[in-house]
Amino acid sequence: MAILPLVIAPDPRLKKISEPVKKEDIDNDLRHFIGDLFDTMYENKGLGLAAVQVGVLKRILVMDMGKGTPRYEETYDANGEPDPICMINPEIVWASDEKFCFEEGCLSFPAQFSDVTRPKKVRVKYLDEFGDEQEKEFSEVSAVCVQHEMDHLNGIVFVDHISKIKKDMVMKKLEKFKKKGAF
Ligand code: NI
Repeated sequence: MAILPLVIAPDPRLKKISEPVKKEDIDNDLRHFIGDLFDTMYENKGLGLAAVQVGVLKRILVMDMGKGTPRYEETYDANGEPDPICMINPEIVWASDEKFCFEEGCLSFPAQFSDVTRPKKVRVKYLDEFGDEQEKEFSEVSAVCVQHEMDHLNGIVFVDHISKIKKDMVMKKLEKFKKKGAF
């Protein structure tokens, strides 16, 4: 297991569309890589991570909402049990009309946050790390997380959902943060 270096914005890789994973390629090597993704996510205190964020353009994401997030008190439980989920080739099969707004962050945009509005509930079909088909419904912060990570697989980042003025502000603040060498 290893902590992998993160791709930090702005980086052209974050705009690339990731490739589907063939079922026959879901093997021990891939599971090893998925283990590294989890390690990297936990080490950086993220709720989710997409493979592209470590520079691998495959449609794979990991997430763990087991503890929730202190940024959304209703879900937060510091003693919560881990709930690791790996999704390969995820697809949204249903999304609610009802929306949910949440202040999102991203490991590729350290220390940057912005409100994003998305469907409040989604149902997602995906392959797990053993190549078995799964379908699961997510709501509120979990739904935010899965939609945010799925966006990464399509070259979309959370600031693509906000106005240009706000996006420019985030990018400027990120540049300042990087210059300070804070990470
Ligand atoms: Ni992200």
